[in-house]
Amino acid sequence: MSKPVLWITRRLSDRTLERAQQDYDCIINHEDGEHSAAEIIEMSAKVDAILPCHSEVFRGETVDRLDDRVKIIANHSVGTDHCDIPALNARGITVTNTPDVLSDATAEIAFLLMLGAARRAVEGDTLVRQGKWDFWSPAFMVGKQVSGARIGIIGMGRVGQVMADRARGFDMEVHYHNRSRLPADKEKGATYHDTVESLLGVADFLSLHCPATEDTKGMMNAERFALMPDGAVFVNTARGALVDEDALLSALDSGKLSAAGLDCFVKEPGGNPAFAAHDNVFMLPHIGSATVATRDAMGFRALDNLDAFFSGKTPKDKL
Ligand code: DGY
Repeated sequence: MSKPVLWITRRLSDRTLERAQQDYDCIINHEDGEHSAAEIIEMSAKVDAILPCHSEVFRGETVDRLDDRVKIIANHSVGTDHCDIPALNARGITVTNTPDVLSDATAEIAFLLMLGAARRAVEGDTLVRQGKWDFWSPAFMVGKQVSGARIGIIGMGRVGQVMADRARGFDMEVHYHNRSRLPADKEKGATYHDTVESLLGVADFLSLHCPATEDTKGMMNAERFALMPDGAVFVNTARGALVDEDALLSALDSGKLSAAGLDCFVKEPGGNPAFAAHDNVFMLPHIGSATVATRDAMGFRALDNLDAFFSGKTPKDKL
């Protein structure tokens, strides 16, 4: 029997590509460029399955015009805001994602951003790197202490829970907001806030770990930044769409926030050049899950979902 034809839209890990090619007739984007809607539509007529990343958008007209041949979109991402899942399902297309396997790596990057923002990593690195470090004093480059401080986590799913565990390692007081309160074994003594507003009031450090949906888009706006303690630090490794970037810039300019750590931006790739003028903003280019182990795990999870689908089973991560 011939193998299903699978389009792998980006350069996935070597181990993922090797395994994919054993079981599928693969079309692989070795050049690794991004794809326009027209290219996605054109390619859909040639394949039974697509293994995309969050960089390929399946919304609006693209979904309407996908060829009937495509039966499954097995995302290589936990986030699915690039997919209109109800519309894809209405077209008879199964959609899956890759939860769990990237929680550790993403929480690592969130912690890196939080520490780097709080302890003035950009400023210090620039000073030493540019050979401009010619002074030292106890009053020099004093930052905000993370250990023992209060952290607010919005979205206490898998990544949020790992972030909370890492925060406990720094003796932080963990507060969270989530659609529903966690059971005690998962809450582990963290304080639940049933509104975002209540959480913001205690968030000396705030880290976002919720998906970008119609309900959460732009949730961090001027009114909400104003509710945070003075000098708070804001961290976003979830999605840029959660944040009103102008409001964030104003909060940084006014000193309401002392610093921010950002791995996600409204415009990606590229980010927001306005942040570059702020050396209290520690930025990374959406690399939360970019470790060798996690890329392999994400690729394998997507392939597990495809294997289940093509053997007539329900994929574990069907959405
Ligand atoms: C995810 O998995 O959603 C990450 O943002 C990488 O795509």
